[in-house]
Amino acid sequence: MKELKDYVRTIPNFPEEGIMFRDITTVMQDPDGLKLAIDTMQDLVKDLDFDVVVGAESRGFIFGTPIAYNLHKPFVLIRKKGKLPAETVSIDYDLEYGKATLEMHKDSIKPGQKVLIVDDLIATGGTTEAMIKLVESLGGEVAGVLVMMELAGLNGRAKIAGYRLDSAVTYE
Ligand code: PRP
Ligand code: ADE
Repeated sequence: MKELKDYVRTIPNFPEEGIMFRDITTVMQDPDGLKLAIDTMQDLVKDLDFDVVVGAESRGFIFGTPIAYNLHKPFVLIRKKGKLPAETVSIDYDLEYGKATLEMHKDSIKPGQKVLIVDDLIATGGTTEAMIKLVESLGGEVAGVLVMMELAGLNGRAKIAGYRLDSAVTYE
């Protein structure tokens, strides 16, 4: 029986020298890998009470939407700058290989709603921290963060200390 890690492809030096890129396309393009990823992630939060799933463009959408669908929760999109049409809140942040800006519609979270943040992976934690700040700026309460992969050597977990983080697989 294959494990989740068996479906992940590692590409050294992409997109920059020194980065070990953990490629999820090989997970998604295998129906057993796709099912194992979603089922494993969903199982990790079966005890968690939340109202809304939030995911960031683009890989966060892949994992967040099926989990929201399966649990009959709303899915809220965080997008890269300039893509959302209504009024937004926005945040600049650093990630493992660059800088970016994320935006969220102001009316996408109601104050007091409990939010599960979903992404494919946490590396430095810059993206996750930015998502937490956006959600909290709208009055949302972060119930937890759920990722398929944690790149533990980059210490993202420490950056979001105090928040629950569940990951299906860990790389050093
Ligand atoms: C990747 C990944 C995470 C983030 C993790 O997204 O999907 O969101 O980097 O890195 P960090 O923990 O160092 O912030 P990316 O911005 O490359 O966008 P993509 O999903 O559109 O490929
Ligand atoms: N996003 C940020 N760092 C990454 C990595 N090492 N592999 C895949 N996606 C990433």
